[in-house]
Amino acid sequence: MCGIVAYVGPKDAAPILLEGLQRLEYRGYDSAGVVISNKGLKMRKVKGRVADLAAAVPARFKGGLGIGHTRWATHGAPSDVNAHPHLSTDERIAVVHNGIIENADELRAKLEADGAVFLSETDTEVLSHLIARTVVEADSLEEAVRAALKRIVGTYGIAVIDAQRPGEVVVARNGSPIVLGIGEKEMFAASDVAALVRYTRQVVHLEDGELAVLKADGFHTFASDARETAKEPLTVDWDAGHYDTGGYEHYLLKEISEQPETVARTLRGRLDDRFHIAHLGGLNMDARETRSFRRVKIIGCGSAYYSGQIGAQLIEELARIPADAEPASEFRYRSPVVEPDTLYVAISQSGETYDTLAAVQELKRKGGRVLGIVNTVGSAIARECDGGVYLHAGPEVSVASTKAFTSTAVAFALLALHLGRVRDLSPADGRRICEGLRRLPGQIKEILALEPQIEELARKYAHSPSMMFVGRVRGYPVAREGAQKLKEISYVHAEAYPASELKHGPLALIGPEMPTVAIVPDDELLDKNLTTLGEIRARGGRVLMVGHRTADPKLADDCVVVPRNETELDPILLSIPLQLLAYHAAVALERDVDKPRNLAKSVTVE
Ligand code: G6P
Repeated sequence: MCGIVAYVGPKDAAPILLEGLQRLEYRGYDSAGVVISNKGLKMRKVKGRVADLAAAVPARFKGGLGIGHTRWATHGAPSDVNAHPHLSTDERIAVVHNGIIENADELRAKLEADGAVFLSETDTEVLSHLIARTVVEADSLEEAVRAALKRIVGTYGIAVIDAQRPGEVVVARNGSPIVLGIGEKEMFAASDVAALVRYTRQVVHLEDGELAVLKADGFHTFASDARETAKEPLTVDWDAGHYDTGGYEHYLLKEISEQPETVARTLRGRLDDRFHIAHLGGLNMDARETRSFRRVKIIGCGSAYYSGQIGAQLIEELARIPADAEPASEFRYRSPVVEPDTLYVAISQSGETYDTLAAVQELKRKGGRVLGIVNTVGSAIARECDGGVYLHAGPEVSVASTKAFTSTAVAFALLALHLGRVRDLSPADGRRICEGLRRLPGQIKEILALEPQIEELARKYAHSPSMMFVGRVRGYPVAREGAQKLKEISYVHAEAYPASELKHGPLALIGPEMPTVAIVPDDELLDKNLTTLGEIRARGGRVLMVGHRTADPKLADDCVVVPRNETELDPILLSIPLQLLAYHAAVALERDVDKPRNLAKSVTVE
């Protein structure tokens, strides 16, 4: 959430910053700005997109040192003045910031009393004024930044430059990510590797409390007590090509279409044909320890949480261990009881969602054993966990999650198989699941081939004021994720309910104006689901059924038929038509599919 880029080196910083900001736009896109240091600070910031900023940056913005920002507003509405960077009154210090400063009001009052003139409503601006006050007496910019940060309560990823020190950038992290990029006689920093991979694949992740000084010829990192820290650079294996739309109209459609390959990548090398188990080397647990858990608790936010619900179901069915999922954002605030025989699993595509990270830290503090199911290698959540499973789904750029969602569900199937086979899951059932998993990529291709039909259905239903999504047991998280996808990218109101609960309240909403998307797999609950469809139709409700067979026209107006897999794995396949439905509904309603209003992809604030 909020994108930061910084550059110091022999090249002109402005085009590098603008390119980087474009790559980070999914983190926030309501306003953007850059500042270049060259005989004083030159700044441009605009309300709007990075493209608007690029058009507003004059060619005379030359110089090899600069910082840039793309914003997702927290304090103060999106506007030119509230956009970052923020300068000190004497225009010596410039700051970009991601995170929230909780004591900003108090600091602002003190600074104003001391003569600082605030131009914006942001919490960030206190930082530029604070640093400007300390830098006068400090021996170095890092000392001034450190002194200012000591007075801050809250979270931050920041980049700071000083007009009087034209060869260096100082960056610091507490709760919001900062990654350094190491180039040839040039250094970069950003809130995400996405902004760096075009220039370098050698990166260093800062830890919370760390600060770094970047100069063209290298970098130094320091802990909060000013002691220098030693960091090993990491090589990222995602390159710039992963961040292109690859000829698709939107990242979202590209990412939906990639699922046969991304699911195959999550499975690669992990299925064992001899013992019908899953190899998950990253779990860092031997068989005895794996057997010792009596409960599994899964946490994540948004789509990650819904994929966790699918995961809980898989673990209960295959491993017969009680499992449930809960939003990480709720979990961390209710002072959870942490038990030694519970296995905690944190899910995150980005690996940096603040609520999930804070929940993991709370668990670790209480001695909980936490595994991460994470897409971004080396990310904060991955580093914080005791072990885990990487998705290998490649970067997900569109704000709405699709391929990370299915890969997470697949990773859970692997984990459930693993937990099951060290317990009571028979070799025959293990083999059945392994074979089912192997069929998934081909079956996803078959579902993607239904796109023209789903597009037509999306056009038919997109103009409904509201839609109901229902599913039972395995189908319920599928319905929840389907409703989430529809509302977040098309802004059509959608509600998800367990089909079994419909008659206990929401059936009152059903009528011609509120169509229902019903998830109806051919499982042991088929008859119950068909009864629900009958109840909806009897109240004049229209039904779009997603399942394994064409329904009697008396029960459904439309049907999307997906291939069958093993019952336990069906939710993975049933999710995909709902992604296409939401995508085409959003397109039909001319929404900004990849950057839905009010949202951002990596939510690094509470
Ligand atoms: C945001 C995104 C969602 C995502 C959630 C969790 O709300 O808009 O698409 O599911 O964050 O993100 P994570 O990176 O932790 O999976």
